[in-house]
Amino acid sequence: MPKIKNPNVLVGFNLADDAGVYKIRNDLALVQTVDFFPPVVDDPYDFGAIAAANALSDIYAMGGKPLSALNIVGYPPQSLSLSVLDEILRGGADKAQEADVAIIGGHTIKTKEPIYGMAVTGTIHPDKIVTNATAKVGDSLVLTKPLGIGIITTAIKKEQVEGKWVAEAVKIMTFLNKSASEAMLSVGINACTDITGYGLLGHLCELVQASKVGAKIFLSKVPVIDFAWELAKRKIVPGGTLANLSFIEQKVDWEGEITEEAKLILSDAQTSGGLLISVPKEKEKKLLDRLISKGVPNPVVIGEIVEDRRCRIQVKN
Ligand code: CO
Ligand code: CO
Ligand code: CO
Repeated sequence: MPKIKNPNVLVGFNLADDAGVYKIRNDLALVQTVDFFPPVVDDPYDFGAIAAANALSDIYAMGGKPLSALNIVGYPPQSLSLSVLDEILRGGADKAQEADVAIIGGHTIKTKEPIYGMAVTGTIHPDKIVTNATAKVGDSLVLTKPLGIGIITTAIKKEQVEGKWVAEAVKIMTFLNKSASEAMLSVGINACTDITGYGLLGHLCELVQASKVGAKIFLSKVPVIDFAWELAKRKIVPGGTLANLSFIEQKVDWEGEITEEAKLILSDAQTSGGLLISVPKEKEKKLLDRLISKGVPNPVVIGEIVEDRRCRIQVKN
């Protein structure tokens, strides 16, 4: 892609941040993102809701307010009844309504398997953009959702997981990052990103490189969906998670005994994962309290930002 020269582009693709930001006035900018994918669960309504929550997440990670969305749909009308598509769109519409986002259009093409997602537009004040490039040494790292989503959804495809874990994963994926975003904005934090396809370590790597710092993660504090441990031991993991781990290993120092399954979970490709928030140590408690009072079930401090010009990540037990 050619380099962006337009001065109104405050955040572009070259920055590896969550969403693009385009200034339209000194006190107003657009924040835009797009996300879509094939089904990660069997239930079409849940799939629609997950895809919508996931698409909105990048706006929340930037501290923006999503306003409108366009549906992006691929569908195989020969092999699947249109009532399934109705359910997917209903799931997306309900989630958008929960987020107070108006779906104002969309586009559908025929594809071999269903695809659903959204292009989302929101607004943000140009001076209040939350990027992944401003984490400071001494910050605490707070994660707002447990890991293991990619592993669980892979097990769903292989029919290796019970309904209660599917329900747990759906609950996590459909939970909007809206309340977490509002909490962090009200407290004032240094940096944020959401955890999606590159996993915790991949997105943290982008954050430390953009911020020119290092990070220390305490494995024992990282929240994980219980059953994902068992699946990781049995090597039931997505291809994306394996690719993430082989990419990230050169940037991570494993201290002490870190098991292969722990490495896989920390690299697990998430769909609609939580926010990873870099908050000044003295505001850590205030942020956790605010997250909980806003209804975020289990926000956890998983590590801290340290000084490191090589931008490496240390993982300890
Ligand atoms: Co993102
Ligand atoms: Co995205
Ligand atoms: Co048209």
